[in-house]
Amino acid sequence: MKNGLVVTEDAEIICDILCESEKIVRIGKNIETASSELTVIDASGKIIIPGGVDVHTHLNLVAGTNAACDDFYTGTVAAACGGTTTIVDHPGFGPAGCSLDHQIKKYHDLAHGRAVIDYGFHGVLQHVDDNVLAMMETLAGEGITSFKLYLTYGFKLSDADVFKVLRRAKELGVIIAVHPENDGVINLLRSEFIAAGKTGTEFHPLSRPAECEAEAVNRMILFARIADDAPLYIVHLSCGLGLEFIAAARQRGQKNLWAETCPQYLLLDESLYSKPGGEGLKYIMCPPLRAPSDLTALWGGLAAGIDVVGTDHCPFFFQTQKMTGKDDFTKCPNGAPGIEERMPLMYSEGTAKGRISLRRFTDLCCTNPAKLFGIYPQKGVIAPGSDADIVIIDPDRQTVISRKNLHSNVDYSAYEGFTVRGWPLITISRGELIVRDGKFLGAPGRGKFLKRGKILMDDAGQGTKISSVE
Ligand code: URP
Ligand code: ZN
Repeated sequence: MKNGLVVTEDAEIICDILCESEKIVRIGKNIETASSELTVIDASGKIIIPGGVDVHTHLNLVAGTNAACDDFYTGTVAAACGGTTTIVDHPGFGPAGCSLDHQIKKYHDLAHGRAVIDYGFHGVLQHVDDNVLAMMETLAGEGITSFKLYLTYGFKLSDADVFKVLRRAKELGVIIAVHPENDGVINLLRSEFIAAGKTGTEFHPLSRPAECEAEAVNRMILFARIADDAPLYIVHLSCGLGLEFIAAARQRGQKNLWAETCPQYLLLDESLYSKPGGEGLKYIMCPPLRAPSDLTALWGGLAAGIDVVGTDHCPFFFQTQKMTGKDDFTKCPNGAPGIEERMPLMYSEGTAKGRISLRRFTDLCCTNPAKLFGIYPQKGVIAPGSDADIVIIDPDRQTVISRKNLHSNVDYSAYEGFTVRGWPLITISRGELIVRDGKFLGAPGRGKFLKRGKILMDDAGQGTKISSVE
């Protein structure tokens, strides 16, 4: 690649990048090489960033009778077309009482031969016993160095079990990701709304108030504190109150605490639940979309406090699956698509609109998730020795988001009609050009499983200032 504005870890500089055998080998001005097999891409006037890293996807998720409508092929093609070259997927729950490696084995089978970009898996903690605690170590040795638990839904963990896995995570140097919502209050409110005939989508956010999320965020923070600052990652943060608890904990000196938000919580608000004709169902997700003041708080948090922007990509067909909730919002499967839109939206709404710098955009969407989840510097950075995962953005190009130009299997986009500046033109994964101008050129199954390393420790307690990877 020649003459693009390259975002490296410590500079934004117009220069060339030379890649060989899947790796970046040199970055510099006017690189000359004698190789006759060289493909030269002129990137003049373009921005070159590391391939995006999305550490919150739900491909092949099965929730009750509903299966998410992207598998590891369609979901990763969509990711690649949006400039993402690595995912770390959150497997759905397995059968009650299954061993911790049950879902990992299943997901290896689902991804192998299908994924088109590199991938890893988080473990899912759905009960806790001695076998599970022992298996955390075994799986960490196999590259599963993060584990998710839920404080709501069918397989929520008790306080004691949460504490046990936090303590174990600190011991092993792995990270606990949490879906934080107060299950008791939410279930009571949901059943009261339904009993009172309040079945419309506008009751979804009212049944899951921001306080329920923030309380659970704070509970997790305090448990992690008792577990000697166990590594804790808050997923899909949606509210300002939760952010305040995170900021306060860091202020008190708590270490190894990180947070993720998603584009939907930055760009869409709860007024969408009042859309007529069942349209509000498109946005049924947990936690729900929030008030405009929460969006403002989260944008503020992107400057400091929030470390990662993921997607929580969990797509269900609108016409069939989501519409099952048209007479009762609690029947609608939770989740929304967004794997392809994340990078373009964050560049456009964040960097092009001057809300976050190009550097910060790259940190939030590429570098920090790679660091936190044990794949840096192989992923998430443009540097000699790193995988040649590279995205070229045309900052002048405007695109109107439309379902018909996207690559997920799903039949809608939550961002339909959004005008975006800077859609990725080219996506390169391990040196192979796999997307050009919205066309996917790679082969199914080219993606490789990433055996992730142990989790860094945030010794400074600064959130994103991550010093080292073991
Ligand atoms: O509503 C959502 N977010 N569904 C996906 C599963 C989860 O909670 O992360
Ligand atoms: Zn969740």
